[in-house]
Amino acid sequence: MKIGNLEIGGNLIMPAIAGYSDVGQRALAYRFGAALTFTEMISAKGLVYGSAHTEDLLSTTDAEPIKCVQLFGSDPEFIKKAVLHPALKKFDLIDINCGCPVPKIVSNGEGSALLKDIPRLKEVVAAAVEGAGSRPVTVKMRLGFDEGELISPYAAAAAEECGARAIIVHGRRRVDFYSGSVDLLGIRETKNAVSVPVFANGDIVDKASYERAAEVTGADGAAIARGALGRPYVFSEILGIRADVDPGQLVKEHFSMISKIYPERVAADMMKKHIAFYAKGLRGGKAIKVRAFAAKGKEDILHVAEELSRAYFAEKN
Ligand SMILES: Cc1cc2nc3c(=O)[nH]c(=O)nc-3n(C[C@H](O)[C@H](O)[C@H](O)COP(=O)(O)O)c2cc1C
Repeated sequence: MKIGNLEIGGNLIMPAIAGYSDVGQRALAYRFGAALTFTEMISAKGLVYGSAHTEDLLSTTDAEPIKCVQLFGSDPEFIKKAVLHPALKKFDLIDINCGCPVPKIVSNGEGSALLKDIPRLKEVVAAAVEGAGSRPVTVKMRLGFDEGELISPYAAAAAEECGARAIIVHGRRRVDFYSGSVDLLGIRETKNAVSVPVFANGDIVDKASYERAAEVTGADGAAIARGALGRPYVFSEILGIRADVDPGQLVKEHFSMISKIYPERVAADMMKKHIAFYAKGLRGGKAIKVRAFAAKGKEDILHVAEELSRAYFAEKN
């Protein structure tokens, strides 16, 4: 599949996940077959104003064959300045967030609020495309803002008209946040409204949910977010590659990757949230999760990883 001039090695991607799609999560997703992964959403204004936190979020490693950044903002000038910022030079693809439901973002006219203002959405996408040069720009959106609304076919067509090269569409509205079922038919209408690739998103967690989404929506690919937390091998599973993976080993690798970027204490804090997912479903997982939350540094995290491995092999054998 191609997104603009970028050849991508498959049709399964991991979208932006604030607080989770860090360098370790992205590297593991790529290893297990994701064709693209994205940084968490980055404030265009924060980047332009030079916040140190924003620069940390832009860290990447060589384990990411294609580097994709997601930006949020509603001011086209800031979006263009952000895309042209030296810190974004290393990214191969720029994604624009038109889906975030969080009140703080929406009240600034950003994220899913852009679905209520298509002229503004077009200006934002056009500004990103202008700044991006030959690099493709993609847009991630929801179906609409209010209950029952279906704006995404128009929003996607508008984004395509302004140069967006792919659309990722979460089959919920802003009002839904993350609850209720995903409206696959809404995704299908979005797919039918554009000629660029469309990735279906929402509640795809395994081969069965992927196949159902693919069949109903006719989308070109799928975006898996929460289903990849603690289970970065979900991509292999869907691709039909057997993935028999020790979560303790994954925790060690994940921690080692984020430790290259962040100080030990920060990396340990980040890892705790991931361990809650790595431990999910394992016998004794809850107790391991509780111990993980008390972790203060590398030694504690590695100890928890050993416990996860023991629990995993005890269950397996
Ligand atoms: C904790 C969390 C953080 C998220 N952060 C972002 C983000 O930064 N940018 C974005 O476009 N979507 C974000 N999302 C939405 C996901 O990318 C995805 O659209 C949504 O979770 C539905 O897909 P899923 O069912 O595969 O998780 C986030 C979701 C969650 C649960």
